Amino acid sequence: NSPRPLAGRRAIVTSGPTHEPIDPVRYIANRSSGKQGHAIAGALARLGAEVTLVSGPVTIADPAGVTVIRVESAANMLEAVTAALPADIAVFVAAVADWRVATSAANKIKKKEGEGPAPLQLMENPDILKTIGHHADRPHLVVGFAAETADVVSNAQAKLARKGADFIVANDVSPATGIMGGDRNRVRIVSKDGVEDWPDLSKGEVADRLAARIAEAF
Ligand code: C5P
Repeated sequence: NSPRPLAGRRAIVTSGPTHEPIDPVRYIANRSSGKQGHAIAGALARLGAEVTLVSGPVTIADPAGVTVIRVESAANMLEAVTAALPADIAVFVAAVADWRVATSAANKIKKKEGEGPAPLQLMENPDILKTIGHHADRPHLVVGFAAETADVVSNAQAKLARKGADFIVANDVSPATGIMGGDRNRVRIVSKDGVEDWPDLSKGEVADRLAARIAEAF
């Protein structure tokens, strides 16, 4: 067993939230610390992979030994991921905003006395995982995440096929679990072969186990 089983393999990891501009000072975003995605990028690098981490805006440190590309919006993230192809492995951990504002304003939208809030027209963002999962240059192994607050496994199973992923790492992010923004995670690995229930682990341990699981696929 080589300590660097992923030597010579290229990996792309997305992490963090995306920010979708409303105007120069406001944005729409999901909650995401980037902790789990950054930990996975670091873990793959420790197993020898050449890792490109495409990260939305986060406040945590870059993991060691990876190339970090910083982006803001989902459109920027898709562009950076596509530019990083070809790869052997892609792990989509980012909490990408599902919608963006159809036309973001060039200037700050002013509050107008008595007129109520400005209406926002939203449009769907590209699904990065789904795009790469069905791409002509699809990486050998594509991994997605599914943060759910209900029906975690059945939602993850549906996502596998729809998004063209080999594994979906599913977790329950109900506020009571404390997972969101916290340091621990409890996940299930859903693949065509079934469901693996992992114990409560630190996000670092989830990352190491996932990287080892990915290495087994080669
Ligand atoms: O459909 P849902 O957002 O729950 O899927 C989550 C998975 O899809 C995650 O792996 C996430 O990184 C990825 N995703 C994406 N682009 C989107 C939405 C989700 O890559 N626009």
